[in-house]
Amino acid sequence: MDRESKPLGLKNTLFLVGGAIGTIVLMVVIIVIFIFATKPDSSPSKTPEELVDDALSAMPIIDGRNLFASNIRELVFNDLSKFNFSTNLNETYPWSESSRTQTDLPKLRDGRVGAVFWSALVGCQSQHKDAVSETLEQVDIIQRLIHLYKEDLRLVLTAQELEEAIEGKVIGSLISIGAGQSIQSSIAVLRQFYQLGVRSVALTQECHTPWADSSVDKGNITSSGISAFGELIIEEMNRLGLVIDLSYASKDAALSTLKHSVAPLIFSTSGAHSICPDPRNLDDEVLKLVAEKNGVIMVRVDAHNLECAGRPGTIQDIAEHIDYIRTTSSIDNVGIGGNYDGTHNPALDLEDPSKYPDLFLELATTQRWSQEDLEKLSGRNLLRVFKSVEQVRDILMTREPIQTTITKHELEQKRVDQSCMTAKYKEL
Ligand SMILES: *[C@@H]1O[C@H](CO)[C@@H](O)[C@H](O)[C@H]1NC(C)=O
Ligand SMILES: *[C@@H]1O[C@H](CO)[C@@H](O)[C@H](O)[C@H]1NC(C)=O
Ligand SMILES: *[C@@H]1O[C@H](CO)[C@@H](O)[C@H](O)[C@H]1NC(C)=O
Repeated sequence: MDRESKPLGLKNTLFLVGGAIGTIVLMVVIIVIFIFATKPDSSPSKTPEELVDDALSAMPIIDGRNLFASNIRELVFNDLSKFNFSTNLNETYPWSESSRTQTDLPKLRDGRVGAVFWSALVGCQSQHKDAVSETLEQVDIIQRLIHLYKEDLRLVLTAQELEEAIEGKVIGSLISIGAGQSIQSSIAVLRQFYQLGVRSVALTQECHTPWADSSVDKGNITSSGISAFGELIIEEMNRLGLVIDLSYASKDAALSTLKHSVAPLIFSTSGAHSICPDPRNLDDEVLKLVAEKNGVIMVRVDAHNLECAGRPGTIQDIAEHIDYIRTTSSIDNVGIGGNYDGTHNPALDLEDPSKYPDLFLELATTQRWSQEDLEKLSGRNLLRVFKSVEQVRDILMTREPIQTTITKHELEQKRVDQSCMTAKYKEL
């Protein structure tokens, strides 16, 4: 028995020791796997440069507002033969003479821009006059620009087409309307702009429309920021699948629209009021409601976010707006809407869209921005909003087009100059 139990005891000991070692090795392996699995998507060894490079490769920038089209009108009267968008326009007359132009194709490519909302913007002076034809000319020039440079630009009408353009390394090009005066208080005109490929409309810019208030215009304010007719315009935009843009809207107009719209919406070019108290910038109440409603605030890179500092603004100032909006709304509600070609003074070191990656680097260097966070900022948040706008459109598909027209009474309430109008309006 003894002779037999001895080897058995040895075997047992070996078995126990081996088992213990095996268990320890297994635990170490599990712990190591656990540590790596729970780490954020980026390994700690990635430099900020690598983080930005990976983020912008996975999701390039979707820029919420670019006013290049308005400069084609201002500088060359809509004649595309007068310049070559594939060259450095800052070195080509008359662009080289203008302080309000920053965009060309090489700079968009260098800036890792994957899509642009090309804004068709007409000024307040055209309101109740030739706003509609001026806007049509802007839509036309954007379409012709896209067609002429089809190796680099592609017209995009749906979220899926936007993703495909980005995948195919062409710049997804969306047409947006930069101010509500473009529709001349007509839901029919709004619908026809959609037919022409417009996918986003801002309710106002620097002046009120008869149905929505601007943050810049202080006269003749509507109590809730938008009128009853304005609510119908919002409903029709939801029905059509048009992205509502609240940049420049008054606080009341923004709050009312956020509450009334079924679909999430965007601020295509904006900033944080707490960082810079410009009337266009959003206070915390609005920032929090945008988060509740799943919208996105696309941060601009120019004076309105900067001039309150009393010194030339820097890339750090813009990063501060982005960080503040991230903290007050959430990481799901920030985006980029530079407003290039609509400004004379972008931030120092962000003088044209080729510098966008430096802004991302500024954020990545703080170590508070993971690759996933940077991708949300560059484009994923906007893409999410665009998709939900389309989902809402699909749900509302059975609704009839809205047939209501604005009344004489509503125009008079806003003291609209009707001297250039010949249309017959209902009294009430
Ligand atoms: C712009 O210039 C490039 C060469 O620099 C040329 O290949 C291209 O055809 C030009 N495009 C237009 C529209 O003139
Ligand atoms: C124009 O832009 C290019 C590319 O960003 C840059 O290399 C060049 O220095 C600029 N030229 C002038 C005159 O600013
Ligand atoms: C309201 O609008 C009219 C016409 O644009 C203007 O003359 C008037 O001054 C405005 N009222 C206020 C309080 O700003």
